[in-house]
Amino acid sequence: MDSQLALLQDEVREAIARIAHAESLELFRVTYLGKKGKLTLQMQRLKDLAPEERRAFGADVNRLKNEVQQAFDAKTAEISRPNASRDSVDHTLPGLRPPVGRLHPITQTIREISAIFGRLGFESVTGPEIETEFHNFTALNIPPDHASRDDVDTFYTESGHLLRTQTSTVQVRVMKSRKPPLRVIAPGRVYRPDTVDASHSFMFHQIEGLMVDGETTFAELKGTLYLFLKEFFGPKTKVRFRPHFFPFTEPSVEVDISWGSRGWLEILGAGSVNPRVFDAAGYDSKRVQGFAFGLGVERIAMLRHGIDDIRHFYENDLRFLEQF
Ligand code: PHE
Repeated sequence: MDSQLALLQDEVREAIARIAHAESLELFRVTYLGKKGKLTLQMQRLKDLAPEERRAFGADVNRLKNEVQQAFDAKTAEISRPNASRDSVDHTLPGLRPPVGRLHPITQTIREISAIFGRLGFESVTGPEIETEFHNFTALNIPPDHASRDDVDTFYTESGHLLRTQTSTVQVRVMKSRKPPLRVIAPGRVYRPDTVDASHSFMFHQIEGLMVDGETTFAELKGTLYLFLKEFFGPKTKVRFRPHFFPFTEPSVEVDISWGSRGWLEILGAGSVNPRVFDAAGYDSKRVQGFAFGLGVERIAMLRHGIDDIRHFYENDLRFLEQF
């Protein structure tokens, strides 16, 4: 190769390797490939050469020109793709964190409570939200003339079904499908025709508990609830049992925990299973006994986290949800 052309070849290869920006691309184009560019000028030397040298020289210039044009095109493509360009990405910057979801505070609370009862041998089961009067009332010893059955007192469907008002329905369903002994909890939604305010909602969550065998007593109910409440709210939590009435338990209690300056707060209802419920569910009430309890999940989550309005749970406001 002609020595002048060989020098230019080295120069142009180096120059193209150094290009990093669109501006230097244009400068390169003018310097080497333009009308008065260094490669174009080499072509003009042809006429000064001896005829026998022209052929080889012409071929060399053309080959170099093609090589440079290809390298130039490749560089242009590389620089116009900003993210792929080596120099436009700063690998030391922190990455962009993709938004990661999380469990709703109600789901978290249900899982925490279920885990504690799970360690006590309670299996988690579910039942339907659209129920029959039998499961929601009759089998639970709530007579037909009871006020809560009034059709303005809950949500009925046209087919005569209703949205369950309590998870106690699952007690009946479980006993109808399984033999004793059993230990279950049943978390889920319940519906009541309550006017919505800071502490009421037409829909909320309960967790039902049921233990049945030949000799389960009220003392075991107390022990189980003490264990749960101290595990969930802390070992110093004070617990109080107050006599109450539920048609499906006998005797029945409401259970309160002490809450600082706010005094005693009701947290759940419970009792020994009423023999009439065993009869309705097909168990032999002379041979089994057990206890049941039902707690409100929202209430517990509100106490636990200091939430002052039940409506926060249902508004899907990320500023609220991201705190848990
Ligand atoms: N079902 C009752 C309620 O909704 C709670 C409860 C459940 C009470 C089981 C006793 C036993 O208020």
